[in-house]
Amino acid sequence: MNRDGTSAGWLPDNLPDIGLGETRAYSQVAEVIEARSTRLGAPDTLAHMDPPTPDVAARLVGLNAKYNQNLLHPDLSPFASEAEARVIAWLAPAFGMATGHICAGSTVANLTALWAAREHGARKIIASADAHLSVPKAAHILGLPFEAVPVDAVGRMDQACFPDTNDAALVLTVGTTGRGAIDPLSTAASARQGGARWIHVDAAWAGPLRLTMYADRLAGVEQADSVAVSAHKWLFQPKDSALVLFRRAAMQDAVSFGGAYLAVPDIGVQGSRGAAGVALLGTLLAWGREGLAERIEHCIATVDVLAERLENDTRTNLLNRPETAVINWQPSDAARTEAIIAKLGHTASRTIINGLPWVRQVAANYCADVDLIWRRIDQALD
Ligand SMILES: Cc1ncc(COP(=O)(O)O)c(C=O)c1O
Repeated sequence: MNRDGTSAGWLPDNLPDIGLGETRAYSQVAEVIEARSTRLGAPDTLAHMDPPTPDVAARLVGLNAKYNQNLLHPDLSPFASEAEARVIAWLAPAFGMATGHICAGSTVANLTALWAAREHGARKIIASADAHLSVPKAAHILGLPFEAVPVDAVGRMDQACFPDTNDAALVLTVGTTGRGAIDPLSTAASARQGGARWIHVDAAWAGPLRLTMYADRLAGVEQADSVAVSAHKWLFQPKDSALVLFRRAAMQDAVSFGGAYLAVPDIGVQGSRGAAGVALLGTLLAWGREGLAERIEHCIATVDVLAERLENDTRTNLLNRPETAVINWQPSDAARTEAIIAKLGHTASRTIINGLPWVRQVAANYCADVDLIWRRIDQALD
């Protein structure tokens, strides 16, 4: 095997009859992980919604795995269950929510919340055309029709096209995946007047802004019935970790099931669940709210500087000023966009807006160095 892991000949085609032993197997696989993992904390990485993992979280995940705790049964997770409950109690009030649980990601969080919505009478799901694919996916799984509302020029749900919300679950996104737009949360009130049964806020990406100096960007979130927040995005957790939060404790009952072998009801989509809350607890204890806010605010500052440079440079067109540390831009000769994206490599990602490719940069990496990133952009444009 090469050090960069490019020749994978070391991996047997078939399940080996005789094992290597744990020590050799570990070092062999670990070597390839080291060689072939995307460096999310590299100073020139500003591509996706995936952050680097703080040491405290990585170490606690390893320790958890050693004890293999299972949140399904309190006998199998005496501390882990308490840790999760504490983390939920710390975070839910920031969103005006009373309760919730941790699940594998916001795809599952959205499904769980919309499942509760259906049990509370929602007969269709409405979201913007830029909502994450997990929302129409949830509608499909739940057997509900999905209605997409067009977005306006900055990527928010277009108020002018507001649909009939009677018996609907309305999903408002805080930080759309492609453009980072925030749907107008004030829509919740008119949707309820129109007969909406449930308001869900998909704050998978930008929910943690609520704990920062930018908390006002989520003003009105407390009117929701449920909120999804990916902890493995802007709460800097290793996967799989997201919060699904509910406004009232009883709202979870609709998605809770008992079983003869269970001591407490199994809440939500998953059965056995790992102790992701322990790593989140450790991270929040290590940093405090201020330390978390500083990192997110640094991400915002990085993208704001970048947006200004892109706006002032004649070689580039910035689509919109960023609201949640997501930017989209093209070279002024838009035909070169794909070539520029290829040159930028891990510095950026790609999205399609109105049928055209755009460079997408997302500040999930608090170790990013804005001057180095600008140098990469400068080099790619030459
Ligand atoms: C707005 C939004 N909602 C939901 C999701 C799905 O989250 P996850 O990848 O944690 O399942 C994403 C993922 O990028 C997202 O951006």
